Parts: sequence; structure tokens; C-alpha cells
Amino acid sequence: MDWTGKVALVTGASSGIGAALAQALSRRGAWVTLAARRADRLQSVAQACPRETLLCPGDLTDPSYRGDLVRRTVAWKGRLDVLVNNAGLGIYRSLEETRESELRQVWEVNFLAACALIQAAVPVMKTQKAGWIVNIASTGGLVAHTAHVAPYLAAKHALVGLSRGLRKDLDGTGIQVQVICPHLTRTEFFASCIGAEGLDGWIEDLYEKMDTAEEVAEGIVSKLGSGEFIVFPTDRARRAYERFKDLCTLEERTCANRPS
Ligand SMILES: NC(=O)c1ccc[n+]([C@@H]2O[C@H](COP(=O)([O-])OP(=O)(O)OC[C@H]3O[C@@H](n4cnc5c(N)ncnc54)[C@H](OP(=O)(O)O)[C@@H]3O)[C@@H](O)[C@H]2O)c1
Repeated sequence: MDWTGKVALVTGASSGIGAALAQALSRRGAWVTLAARRADRLQSVAQACPRETLLCPGDLTDPSYRGDLVRRTVAWKGRLDVLVNNAGLGIYRSLEETRESELRQVWEVNFLAACALIQAAVPVMKTQKAGWIVNIASTGGLVAHTAHVAPYLAAKHALVGLSRGLRKDLDGTGIQVQVICPHLTRTEFFASCIGAEGLDGWIEDLYEKMDTAEEVAEGIVSKLGSGEFIVFPTDRARRAYERFKDLCTLEERTCANRPS
């Protein structure tokens, strides 16, 4: 696709998948609004973008910032073609170990911020009779691929469910909804997640087997507007999903767990 003259808003653009995706869209000609808390990191990402960017540093748990993002993007270029809800916060804790404040933070960033941005973007896209809503979920939004991360799995399942509902609701408006399901990706995600101290280095052992943020970003861009609703950005992510889906289907045939 030629993205020249198209306007994208990417949350979580200061690192990892969001930074790589913003740059990939910019290389294809898009103007990109870069959103995240770390202004210095957004500045570095902007320098690597060949096309004009709009830097909007802020915290997505702040409702006034969420509303501002779409308003400022439309004020900048007069339209919004692609909204990418990418910002995310991992939590490597079971529900019983999770404080309510942590649970709220995870849901604010992974789910409620996406809802608010979609609410702001849809009227703009309806007026344009065109637009893409791209929600970055996870294979963990489709299957429970690992234990002791139920709060994270729940937020990502909610994002997939929201996307499914929106797809139906926005039928006939010209707005396309896609939900992206990456698997393990080499980013700062594991260092910045709640409960990172509990990962005990096991994640480093997996690093070689992970996708890179650039691979995931290229996979996403190549499938934007393809008509695929659930998108696995890489073959590795698709294979991981297939493997876990079969395993989970087997396990979930019964509600009985193994005895303690
Ligand atoms: N890495 C993986 O293995 C993996 C796998 C499946 C799905 N995903 C999903 O992919 C997405 C991107 O993650 P990543 O792997 O690229 O991780 P990352 O490098 O840690 O990026 C997360 C981004 O979210 C932003 N963010 C977090 N809290 C925020 C807040 N309160 N306000 C505004 N921005 C906030 C961060 O920016 P600031 O800190 O500057 O605010 C950062 O830009 C997430 O939705 C994640 O759940 C990741």
C-alpha cells in the first residue's frame, strides 16, 4: 500500500513494536503522531522517521491526554486514517498476587485507553467514510498460553473481544478493524512489566527464539488493509498460536485441573 498522505496515530511509539511500526509507516509515506510517556525516546523515534511526525508525550492513564491525542492529530493534518492502539503494559503475576491498583493500571493502558481512543477516532473516520482501527493484542488474547499471567491474558482477551464487536458495529462505515496477535517479541516489555523481578532471567534464555520488533512491524504493515481480521504478524506467531490453541482446546474440554 502507498501510505503517502495518510495520517497514523501510534500509541506506545517510544519503544519496541510501536517505535518500529511508526518508522515502517513513515518509510512508506505516512505522517505519524507518536504517543507515549517518554518524550526523549519519542524524539529519537521521530529522528528515524523520514516523514513529518507529531510528538505527543503523555500518560494514557490520564483521560484528558487520551482525548487530546485524536484532537491534536486531526488539528495537525485534518484527518486520521489509522489508529494503532499499541501501548501495553505486561504483568507477570497471578490474580491473587496482583494489587487492585496494578490491575487497574494494566486495564487502563491495555484496554480502557484503546476504548477511549476508538471513541474519539470513530466519528472522524465516519466523516471520512474510511479508516483503520488496529488493536495490538497478543496470542495471549486468544489462548491462555502460560500460567500465572491471568490479569494480562484477561486484558488482551478483552481487546480481542472489543475488536470482534467493533468489526460488526462498524460494518458498512468504511472503517476496518484489525486485531494483531504477536507472540514473544524482543522488546523492553519484559523489563518494564509489573512483576519483572519474578522473571528471573528465564526470558533472556528465550531471546534468540523471539521475533524482533522490526519483523513484527513489517508483518503488521504488510497486512494492514488486507481484509484479514485476526493478524499474526509473523510465521512464528502463527505457529505458536496453532500449538497453544490445540493444547488449550484439549485442556479446556474439562474444567478439572490436575490435583495439587
Ligand atoms: N513483547 C512481546 O513479547 C509482546 C507479545 C505480544 C503482544 N505484545 C504487545 O505489543 C504491544 C507493544 O509492546 P512492546 O513489546 O513493544 O513493549 P514495549 O517496548 O515495552 O512498549 C510498550 C509501549 O507502551 C508505552 N506505554 C506503557 N505504559 C504507558 C502509559 N501509561 N502511557 C502511555 N504509554 C505507555 C511505552 O511507552 P512509555 O514507557 O514511554 O510511556 C512503550 O512505548 C503491547 O500492547 C504488548 O502487550 C508484546
